[in-house]
Amino acid sequence: MSVVGTGYLGAVHAACMASLGHEVIGLDVDEQKVRLLSSGKAPFHEPGFDELLKEQVDAGRLTFTTDPADVADCRVHFIGVGTPQTSDGDAADLTYVDAAITNLLPHLGPVDGRAPLIAGKSTVPVGTAQAIAERIAPTGALLAWNPEFLREGFAVQDTVSPDRIVYGLSKDEAVAAESKAILDEVYADLLAREIPLVVTDYATAELVKVAANAFLATKISFINAMSEIADATGADVTTLAEAIGHDDRIGKKFLRAGIGFGGGCLPKDIRAFMARAGELGLDDTLTFLREVDTINDRQRVRTVDAARTAVGGDLAGRTVAVLGAAFKPDSDDMRNSPALDIAKRVQDEGARVRVTDPAAGAVLRARGSEFDVVDSVEEAAQDADIVLLLTEWRQFREIDPVELKKVAPAATILDGRNALDPKRWRDAGWTYIGIGRP
Ligand code: UGA
Repeated sequence: MSVVGTGYLGAVHAACMASLGHEVIGLDVDEQKVRLLSSGKAPFHEPGFDELLKEQVDAGRLTFTTDPADVADCRVHFIGVGTPQTSDGDAADLTYVDAAITNLLPHLGPVDGRAPLIAGKSTVPVGTAQAIAERIAPTGALLAWNPEFLREGFAVQDTVSPDRIVYGLSKDEAVAAESKAILDEVYADLLAREIPLVVTDYATAELVKVAANAFLATKISFINAMSEIADATGADVTTLAEAIGHDDRIGKKFLRAGIGFGGGCLPKDIRAFMARAGELGLDDTLTFLREVDTINDRQRVRTVDAARTAVGGDLAGRTVAVLGAAFKPDSDDMRNSPALDIAKRVQDEGARVRVTDPAAGAVLRARGSEFDVVDSVEEAAQDADIVLLLTEWRQFREIDPVELKKVAPAATILDGRNALDPKRWRDAGWTYIGIGRP
């Protein structure tokens, strides 16, 4: 099989498929990335991925190429390219998906007498799969949509042990049956472990993905709205989340209030979903997602407001330690990172900002950061007027407040992820500020 696009999704999918015993070729236009991956080195930080990649490359099951002709013998082609937000609107940019299909088209002949299958994994607006199916029809190739639900930081685990597998198949029964048979072979190991399989049509499969991300984003913004109410009333949003989470119908997960969601998925997916609804003539249907987005942005503003208030009303000339740059822990991904955005806003108000992040710090420095990037919490916090914990890395959650106070005598911490024990920090002499916590 081939995996077209070797970014986060594609590279992890390729290595995981190889680990299931398949022979996999990763295809990408980025020569440098292909060289790096071919040498068994991961171009991004993801726990467990380096080892898996090296193991599969060394075993000879996993190779990478920039030449589409190299994948002509593959029976399955997974599409794992990015669908970022367009630069001039909310819609998804399908340039890379279109290019992936264009590159494959000349190489889509029968393999061992059978039509090859294209299996889309990228997150796309509903209707995309049908359009691709029509494009590839003259070659005889089949199409399925097989969305991916992996989380960064848990990407390998989520790929080999997903919560569910979704097949979006053609309405043509023969095409659907053949596509399903091929996917069943690909995922035989997972299906044997009774991982739930949902078999449906293209549109539903495409929608499952964006609906899941929209629901997750809504949960986060819901609890963040509660954090505003909690701040105004002296209530504690973490206790509120715990209490409502005991209700199975609500559940505890994704109810962590804080500086909000970021990354390469949730923000752009809810916007693309709204844009697609508009194209379908359903402008009003998803307007609540606009509010989800607005609440999310407001958390960033509120965090900066809280930091400014904590240092006496003006951030200019203040020294601010920022712990965390990645959009979440165990990742070096800074796409739409709330941590980085807040750091920038604070710096724009004239503060001296020192940033540290266990994985994203090196990336930030390599790309020529506008911030002072340092290697340790102690360096960042040295004589800081305020410490902002913005990405809840384990290293930060385990900071000893007694020790840190020795380098930061102003002893003021804003816990943007409600990741610390307020009592422990206050007992150590710190002014502790949480999000929606008294
Ligand atoms: C998300 C989805 O969770 C995956 O299922 C999906 O496959 C992926 O997008 C995708 O579309 O490819 P990911 O972007 O890796 O995964 O990150 P999440 O774990 O969803 O976290 C997103 C953001 O929400 C992070 O910034 C995180 O800090 C924030 N978050 C999460 C909260 O603020 N509160 C929470 O309770 C949970």
